[in-house]
This record gives sequence, structure tokens and C-alpha cells, in this order.
Amino acid sequence: MATSKQHANKSTLIIVSNRLPLSLRKVDNSFESSTSSGGLVTALSGLTDSMNFKWLGWPGITAANDEEQENAQRALGEKMAKGIFLEEQLAQDHYDGFSNTILWPTLHYQSGIEFREEFWEAYRQVNEIFADVVAEEAHTGDLIWIHDYHLMLLPSLLRSRLRAQGKECPIGFTLHTPFPARDVWRGLPVEKELVTGMLASDVVGFHTEEYKENFATACVNHSDVVGLEETDCIRMGDHLAHLGVFIVGIDPIKFSETLKNPYVVNRINELRHMHSNKTIMIGVDRLDYTKGLVQKLKGYERFLNDNPELRNKVVLVQVAVPSRENVKEYQDLEEEIQTLVGKICGEHCAPDNFPLVYMHRSISFTELTALYSVAEVCLVTSQRDGMNLVASEYIACQGHRHGVLVLSEFAGAASFMQEGSILFHPSSTDQLSQAIYQAVTMNQDERKKRYESLCDFVTNYTRCA
Ligand code: ADP
Ligand code: G6P
Repeated sequence: MATSKQHANKSTLIIVSNRLPLSLRKVDNSFESSTSSGGLVTALSGLTDSMNFKWLGWPGITAANDEEQENAQRALGEKMAKGIFLEEQLAQDHYDGFSNTILWPTLHYQSGIEFREEFWEAYRQVNEIFADVVAEEAHTGDLIWIHDYHLMLLPSLLRSRLRAQGKECPIGFTLHTPFPARDVWRGLPVEKELVTGMLASDVVGFHTEEYKENFATACVNHSDVVGLEETDCIRMGDHLAHLGVFIVGIDPIKFSETLKNPYVVNRINELRHMHSNKTIMIGVDRLDYTKGLVQKLKGYERFLNDNPELRNKVVLVQVAVPSRENVKEYQDLEEEIQTLVGKICGEHCAPDNFPLVYMHRSISFTELTALYSVAEVCLVTSQRDGMNLVASEYIACQGHRHGVLVLSEFAGAASFMQEGSILFHPSSTDQLSQAIYQAVTMNQDERKKRYESLCDFVTNYTRCA
């Protein structure tokens, strides 16, 4: 972590999120780290070289005692990431329970959610624990940047601790998910606590105008506590919170550099050779119901059935990284996907033809880059999605291939990438099948024109600071 000498020279950016850039696993009494998956870590990974910062969060495991915590902290690396260790049941009720069984589905417009007091209590407690640790780490002048739905109460809990300790630090909060329409949000009995928790920040950031507007509407609902000052400013007592839209992006240069790596060049040639005479399509998603994987497979199946002449000419490579595997909805989804994959392969695969390759695991960055590069089409089929960085990553790896992006209207990315992509409604199997047909049969001139528009967005507006 930063030393006091370092601190005398520069203020620090303190990033706080539930997920750290590294996740730990316990293996025979020691700890192994691996890069965490997910858009939040990808979006913030560009910060590493450029700023004086530290990153506080939950390392994904329990440490039984102080010695284990020290070992776990060493596995995270001494300098940048600091683990906030939680007791196992508390972590489960906060992460699997309130965050991922109640809040995540609400933010993504799912229905039939059961509110549970014990999960809410754990959520509150974990936010309190984070507030204690962050307040202790912070010095006056540091900038504190809190991320995502696991920590919506943190701005207000932290603000009061900092005040009590006489520390002055600006607090920013960024939500990396959609913020839903008023009626959906009101389904949560604790929505007022969550909204007012976030409003203790100086700046509250969203990925799109729509999410920001929805949040402002949720605030108006509590006119007993807050007042709309002017556009995008909300007053709560003597505090003013500014709302903003901040486009989250990737570091395209990291991809273009990796594409020059001889291993990747070789791998691209290998993959091309393996699938010669086929149009390769790629899907890369966390295995999450919000990504519309079931709908993607059904749309692809429809496309294969409707276009028999193309069956031997396409292959969809779908990579699905396991995610939140303790949560029932995710376990059910995995089963459903495996059944569908079996059905499609059973009907359409032959010894000399396999139109679907399904990989249920995380893949290395080099393999990911090679796959993005060889694919002529990328399918992003989110039912709802804060932004979706896969869309940008794919375009960053395309170059002369001028790949076609088939993009759900309900991904945040659609607000910025509509011009070049083929948009479709993610609940319509027909629309997806037709979009795939359009992508596979598109002529070179049109591919180029669309690609250039997408490329402008990715290179000009999403480069990390
Ligand atoms: P989310 O924020 O919901 O996780 P995004 O599309 O914004 O979705 O970000 C997902 C990130 O995770 C991307 O950077 C993507 O490259 C990475 N990713 C997704 N699936 C895999 C996988 N199977 N292997 C490696 N990385 C993956
Ligand atoms: C989304 C969320 C992030 C989260 C990521 C991976 O991007 O917005 O906060 O880190 O998914 O999910 P996980 O549950 O593994 O942290």
C-alpha cells in the first residue's frame, strides 16, 4: 500500500469495489491468485500504469485467522490491492444473497424476486465494514471512487466516518449496471436507503442517459429527503450530488499490441486453417442470464434451420465464463445451456462439420484476442446489460477483417454503437436469426462502412486515461 512518504507528495486515488482485479483460491493451505473476469475489472485495468492508486475490495475467499489473512494479502500483491476479509456466512449473504439474488436481478428488470431481511442485514453490515476500512486508509485530499451495486450504502456510511475523523475526500460512485425504470426499482422495499446511500457521493456516474434519468426519477420519489436543484444535481440536506454519464471503455492498444505477439499471429493462422471456408462467429460472455445466452442459442438454431444452404458454412464459437456458481438461477442457467448445446450439436453436427463450439471456462487473454480476431461476426445478445465491453473488444481486434457486430438493443453499448452494428430485439428469435443472416451475407463495402463507424467509437471514446 502507499507509504506516508508517498502520501506527502501526491494524493491517492482509492478505488473501492467488491471484486478486486485478482481473485484468490485456497489450494492446500496456500493462496493462488488469478485475474478476475468481468466488465468492471476490465474497465479499470487501464489505470494501473497511469496513476498513484490503491484498490480495496473482497478477495473472494475467507481467511480463518490473522496469519492466513497475511498470506492471502501477499498473494494479492503488496502494493496495489488490499483485501477486505469477511466472515464466510456474511460474505455469502452479502454477495450471493442480497447483491446477486436481489439487487442484480432488480437492476436488470427480472421479476419474481423474494426480499429477505437477513440478506439485507448482511448487505448493510458489509457496507459498514468497507466504510471502516476505507475511512482508515484515506487521507485528506485522496479521491475515493466506489464501484457498483454491492456497495450502494458505502458513500453515505463513509461520508459520516470521514467527517467524524476530520478528513476531507471527494467521493465518486459509478454504477456499472443499468438503473431500472421507477416501477421496477420501487419493487425493492429498501430502495430509499440505497438511493440516499449513493447520493452522499459528490458525483454519481452511470453508463447511459437512460440509467441516469431513471435514477433521477427514483430520487424524485423521495422528495421528503432530496431536492432536484437543477439538471443533474440533487440536494440532500447540505450536500449536493452531481449525476453524470461516463462512457466506460477498454484499452484498444492493449489488444492491438497483443495481436502482434507471434504466438497470437500463429494461433490466428491455426484457427483460420481449422475453419477454412467457414464464417466464424464469436460469443464471449459471463454465464449470466442477463447475457441472453439461451436466446442466442435459440436464435442460432433458428438460423441453421431456416438456412440449410449455410449450415456447412458457419461456426459459432461460444465462450462462457463460469460466474456466481452458488446462486441457484446461475446453476439452472448452466443446465439449460448445456441441454440446448446438446440439442443443437445433436441435430447439426456431423463427423466433418460442427457448427457450434461451446467452451464453459475462462480463456487466456491471448486466446481471447486470437478468437476475436478470426471471427467475422460477433454476437452480443444481452437481455439487459450496463454497457457490454465484449462489443468494443471485438471491434478493437478486427482491423482489415471488418467484422460485423450483431448487438442487442438492450445492451448499454447500443446507445453508442447503433450506427455500425446490426441491432435486434433480444426477445425475438426471428430477429436474431435474420440479423445473423444479414451479418453472414453482408458485402465487403457495407462491412467496411459499418466497421469504420464502430472503430471510431472504440478508439476515440473508450481509451482508458
Ligand atoms: P460484464 O460486465 O457483465 O462481466 P462485459 O461484457 O462488460 O460484461 O465484460 C466482460 C469481460 O469479461 C470482458 O472484458 C471479457 O473479455 C471478459 N470475459 C468474458 N468471458 C470470458 C471468458 N470466457 N474468458 C476470458 N474473459 C472473459
Ligand atoms: C459485472 C458487475 C461487476 C462484477 C462483474 C463480475 O460486470 O457490474 O461488479 O465484478 O460483473 O461479476 P462477479 O460477481 O464475478 O464480481
